[in-house]
Amino acid sequence: MTNFIIQLSLRGALAGLLLLPAGAARAQQTRQEVLLTADWKFTKGDVPDAARPDFKDARWQTVQVPHDWAIYGPFSPQNDLQTVKIEQNNEKEAKTKAGRTGGLPFIGTGWYRRRLQVPGFAAGKRAVLLFDGAMSDAHVFVNGKEVGAWPYGYNSFAVDITDAVQPGPDNVLAVRLQNLPEQSRWYPGAGLYRNVHLLVTNDVHIPVWGTYLTTPTITADYAKVKLRTRVETPGRAFQALRLDTEIRDAAGKVVATSSTPLAATDALEFEQNLVVPQPRLWSPETPTLYAASSKLYAGEVLKDEYKTTFGIRSVGVEAGRGFVLNGQPRKFRGVCNHHDLGPLGAAVNTAALRRQLVLLKDLGCDAIRTTHNMPAPELVQLCDEMGFLLMVEPFDEWKTPKVKNGYSRLFDEWAEKDIVNMVRRDRNHPSVVMWSIGNEVPDQWAPGGSKLAKRLQDLVHREDPTRPVTAGMDQFDAAVGNGFAAVLDVPGFNYKPHRYPEAYTKLPQGVLLGSETASTVSSRGVYKFPVEKAKDKRYPDNQSSSYDLEASNWSQTPDEEFAAQDDLPYTLGEFVWTGFDYLGEPWPYDESWPSHSSYFGILDLAGLPKDRFYLYRARWNPTQPTLHLLPHWTWPGREGQTTPVFAYTNYPSAELFVNGVSQGRQTKGPSAQPQTRYRLMWNEVKYQPGSIKVVAYDASGKAVAEEEVRTAGRPHHLKLTADRSALAADGQDLAYVTVRVEDAQGNLCPDATNELRFEVKGAGRFRAVANGDPTSLELFHEPRMRAFHGMLVATVQAADQVGSVQLQVTSKGLPGATLRLPVAKPSGQ
Ligand code: GAL
Repeated sequence: MTNFIIQLSLRGALAGLLLLPAGAARAQQTRQEVLLTADWKFTKGDVPDAARPDFKDARWQTVQVPHDWAIYGPFSPQNDLQTVKIEQNNEKEAKTKAGRTGGLPFIGTGWYRRRLQVPGFAAGKRAVLLFDGAMSDAHVFVNGKEVGAWPYGYNSFAVDITDAVQPGPDNVLAVRLQNLPEQSRWYPGAGLYRNVHLLVTNDVHIPVWGTYLTTPTITADYAKVKLRTRVETPGRAFQALRLDTEIRDAAGKVVATSSTPLAATDALEFEQNLVVPQPRLWSPETPTLYAASSKLYAGEVLKDEYKTTFGIRSVGVEAGRGFVLNGQPRKFRGVCNHHDLGPLGAAVNTAALRRQLVLLKDLGCDAIRTTHNMPAPELVQLCDEMGFLLMVEPFDEWKTPKVKNGYSRLFDEWAEKDIVNMVRRDRNHPSVVMWSIGNEVPDQWAPGGSKLAKRLQDLVHREDPTRPVTAGMDQFDAAVGNGFAAVLDVPGFNYKPHRYPEAYTKLPQGVLLGSETASTVSSRGVYKFPVEKAKDKRYPDNQSSSYDLEASNWSQTPDEEFAAQDDLPYTLGEFVWTGFDYLGEPWPYDESWPSHSSYFGILDLAGLPKDRFYLYRARWNPTQPTLHLLPHWTWPGREGQTTPVFAYTNYPSAELFVNGVSQGRQTKGPSAQPQTRYRLMWNEVKYQPGSIKVVAYDASGKAVAEEEVRTAGRPHHLKLTADRSALAADGQDLAYVTVRVEDAQGNLCPDATNELRFEVKGAGRFRAVANGDPTSLELFHEPRMRAFHGMLVATVQAADQVGSVQLQVTSKGLPGATLRLPVAKPSGQ
């Protein structure tokens, strides 16, 4: 029998795919899911009667959801002024900070309204709205009646609207959201920034996140799969039900089945134990997925169908072995990421997330910590499919506040509910290997903090006993001294490589994690002289140097963490702060407008790799050669001045030539100075225009690779490169087009600031542009921007019709450039 998918949308394990026999009529569907993307009306500001069904919203803006109302700006220091003393940053007094949360207008109230047609709704049907996240303090109204509310903007929540909806197209859905000043330490986004799903089921059905699948035994010959499936019945009364489950492998072949009646003693929960022969194990390198498709019958009536995608893999943490995946110890090569997607703001987009993961794969990164909040479900699903280990973390504070209107206001009433939703939504995903219960929570040193940690960890274990729990701790003495660190399955330390041996000695676990490491700052393409290791270094242009020697006062440069991880066998690896630059937290310039986005990223806000990308790639991606030279070699006025040259490489040694003259050979090796262990550095090079060339040698001394950087001439042309060769005609897909200002020979003009203008024609539209400059106040959605150090990235969004899309880039004084991409039928349609 052929199956086809009625409604294609990402859902992870949160709801069933609609699998119907070919030719089946819609009326026979057991469940329907509609993604509520189009035809929303939106207004900023509070409107007293906006929940009323007859309210006239014709003048409101028409928007697509996911939608971030604040990303369109304009930027202003007045948008998010905070006067705070940041204890984590070792600040001694309160100071006024602008741009700490991105300098964007996210504070205030916003309303969304939409007509709601509930397909097939009739007596005996159930209707549920599932919000993947709504920023924040969501109040949901159907036909004027408040049907649900959820204050924390990052969590997913479901609202049963059965009693409020009518059959037919005349229902009205309204959502009120409100962001408070000082609710965050970074840009949270604003509005319905994640998807909203409408689910319609029968009276007897499997609820949202209704399955819990584990793989308790895995051998080479078989894997035991335990599937627990909850059911809902009218009045929660027992009914004679049966659940038929088929497990299919990645090729779609049925590899296990079970048909299970519900026993009166089962409290409306099926337990099925299935055996998959010769399992193919999930790992970052082999992200093999299986799917359990379940059919729920009352007598012979099919009541519901539900699909749970999963992987077969084991995780554990063992003293003496560390983090063990499928029996193999491995160290996390991880990054922390905030949820914003740079120029798209917080509005989730699968293509944007996929592009980030493609870049991280190339980096050799295998793990992501979702700082400091629940991720979009699309990210979790992509990590399953592409192979990333996820540490999911819900909170940045518990009872004791970091910011005036942060989560501490909600903690007592909501912490358990938030943990339950977080764990139930994501616990079937093989990519999720660890939960974190919080980041640098001030309760580390508050009385009762360790009890709170124990309570939260117990809650997570209650919902999912299969994964270890950690927390990111920064207050070493307090947390190690008062029992807080000892409570955790895995003690996680932020920026403490120098204290790992002490933690190992004092704590019982026998392992520890670099839960957050290496807050090094840099601006792509910026190099400062003299080249010096420094903390909190500030320059008049509000930029940081890309020699990767400048860190925040509470942190180290990457190399110190590398040394600790390499020398101490009980370390579990690291999560670098951060993979990508993000909106907000412009340290070390958070008191110095116009800085409003971070400098910490390995990649900048546009997703362009900074030099540091190659330092990590050389270490993390052993399958690809890395040989990267810095700085650029266009320094008019620096002739004869000391201009150090670094190479980031996984070759053991290399020789540098300036205009053909050898500057000597450098070899990596153990050293008291961690930089010389992980980088090749020629610190005394004198600048002369021409070229720098590095020749790398393998372990046997053979010259095996070389890399050259030449002095660039005047801007001559624009070069456009897309991250893909085609777009899907789904109205959502994105192409990221890197634009480089080049000289006549194709060298990057590293100081070019040309203003570029964009026009998109055909089957797509201009979506956004970013240049990675944390001080730029140019708006992301306007089709013009200045190049930053010769580069920027324009984003083109596909139409929902096939054809071809054309991006034209122009700039005064340079020939225009055009890039065409086919927009093809999405796969699976
Ligand atoms: C950490 C904190 C992160 C971020 C980072 C910047 O202390 O956990 O959220 O603020 O510092 O270095």
